[in-house]
Amino acid sequence: MSHPIDQIAYPGSDQYSAAELAVPGSIKLELGAEPVARATNTAYIMFQVPDLQKQKSFLQDFGLVEASQSEQTLYMRGYGADPYIYVAHQGSEAKFIGAGFVLESEEELNRASIETGKPIEDTGTPGGGRRVRLTDPDGFLVDLVFGREMTGPLDTRRDPLPANLPGKKNRVNKGVRTKLAPSAIERFGHYVLMVSDFDQSWAWYRKHLGLLPTDVLCSATGRPLLAFNRLDKGSEPADHHTVVLAGGPEVGIMHSAFETFDQDAIGQGQQFLKMKGWKHFWGIGRHILGSQIFDYWLDPHGFEVEHYADGDVFDDAHATGYHLLDRGGLWAWGNDVPDAMKPKPTLKMLIALLFGSSDKRKVLFEMKKAMDRVPRPWLK
Ligand SMILES: [Fe+2]
Repeated sequence: MSHPIDQIAYPGSDQYSAAELAVPGSIKLELGAEPVARATNTAYIMFQVPDLQKQKSFLQDFGLVEASQSEQTLYMRGYGADPYIYVAHQGSEAKFIGAGFVLESEEELNRASIETGKPIEDTGTPGGGRRVRLTDPDGFLVDLVFGREMTGPLDTRRDPLPANLPGKKNRVNKGVRTKLAPSAIERFGHYVLMVSDFDQSWAWYRKHLGLLPTDVLCSATGRPLLAFNRLDKGSEPADHHTVVLAGGPEVGIMHSAFETFDQDAIGQGQQFLKMKGWKHFWGIGRHILGSQIFDYWLDPHGFEVEHYADGDVFDDAHATGYHLLDRGGLWAWGNDVPDAMKPKPTLKMLIALLFGSSDKRKVLFEMKKAMDRVPRPWLK
């Protein structure tokens, strides 16, 4: 389908000829029927790592606090009220296991169990509660949880720092003196998965968590390749994204993200992590879709983890946005994404390109083309 050039002007569209462009969103979404459950909050994220002690040491410097630990499992909490938000199981290889989400009522939990045929079980973890444990199309766990006992929040700075503006001075005879300390993490915010079949996984997550697509990134041909999805909390605003899905040659987690207070907390947290010798990955910058101030780190087992603050929130009345997938669309200011985040021709990708279905090949080509375009040449 071709479009007159005046209908296809959007950021990035000038890099394509009119013949190869379709308007993002021109392929309509099948949003499906009533979901099995509607998650109203994140609960936790789960990993397996060979070295629990080393992981704990990083996580403490990253801004989490030990909730409990056995020989096999480490539970870390944030400064917010959740009993824990991060789980690390001891195991021979480092791998992502899955995530847990909060349901609002026991009825929701019962309905999820009946609809999926999965049992309701005790979590057996700090804070108690019960869960229905599901497995996504790529084998990652998704726990639907209800009835956990919250704990009191921990003390940390929760007041904004007074800012001096040209016309308004809110700070007189006083400097900005924040502590060199870990960036206190309030809660587990979101994670990004690369999935083997984008359409299938996207439908699965919408069906089992009741997610709403906030922004969808499309190829030049209009095909959705990456979706930022938020929780459906009705008229109560929810984070711009909680589960992000992208189609790709590899399957696994791209990063998990934790909400901290503000940019000074992130900045001081960065200094602290650098002082401790951990590996910095990308930031500080501000995202475009979601608007978060961000800073990315690598944990000792190679997983990307993000500090973020000041993200956008939307209620259920907000319409889905469609955009051209472009590396430059990932951030508003800050350095270009690190080389390690750019697509590389891996063996898996080569195999998928040579032997995958024509549809899979098309997705990979379009994804690579989009991510290879240099968005801001002045940065290199
Ligand atoms: Fe993120």
